[in-house]
Amino acid sequence: MSDTPFQPNLSQHEVLPSTVAETENTPTRRAFMGVAAAAGLCYMGAMGYPIYRYLASPAEMAANQTAVSEVTLKDAHKLPPASALMFKFGSSPAMLIHGTDNTWVAFSAVCTHLGCTVQFEPQMNRIHCACHGGVYDPHTGKNVSGPPPQPLRAFKVNVAVDGVTVSRA
Ligand code: FES
Repeated sequence: MSDTPFQPNLSQHEVLPSTVAETENTPTRRAFMGVAAAAGLCYMGAMGYPIYRYLASPAEMAANQTAVSEVTLKDAHKLPPASALMFKFGSSPAMLIHGTDNTWVAFSAVCTHLGCTVQFEPQMNRIHCACHGGVYDPHTGKNVSGPPPQPLRAFKVNVAVDGVTVSRA
């Protein structure tokens, strides 16, 4: 009797049945790498898209701002005095104000402090930014109180029989 452990006597091309079963059920290295690469691409896309949007948005906003030079607001001429109409000028909010003295003005509604959207408050006769208490003159858009460093950007206003056209000043 020999002391060597049992060694199956297999020829070079014979394979044990259990080894065949493991090979069929085990994913190949190539398949695993394909799945890993796809998962990696999905992860990179999920992480990269918000970063891309964050970095690209100022450039897109600037492009949108310059692309639009005029907005026609149908039926806005019916706006009663002492009221405002919010609208989009390009991608940015803007406001058309019909004053109590029958004047018409339009401003960007983007606060010049940190970019919040401002609101017209007719009872206070002001344009107000609720974020940090900025106040603008509703006739001129001039910054009169609070942290805003500059006036609101003013637009040209043309009132017609069927609406109001707001354009770059
Ligand atoms: S963002 Fe308007 S006052 Fe600060």
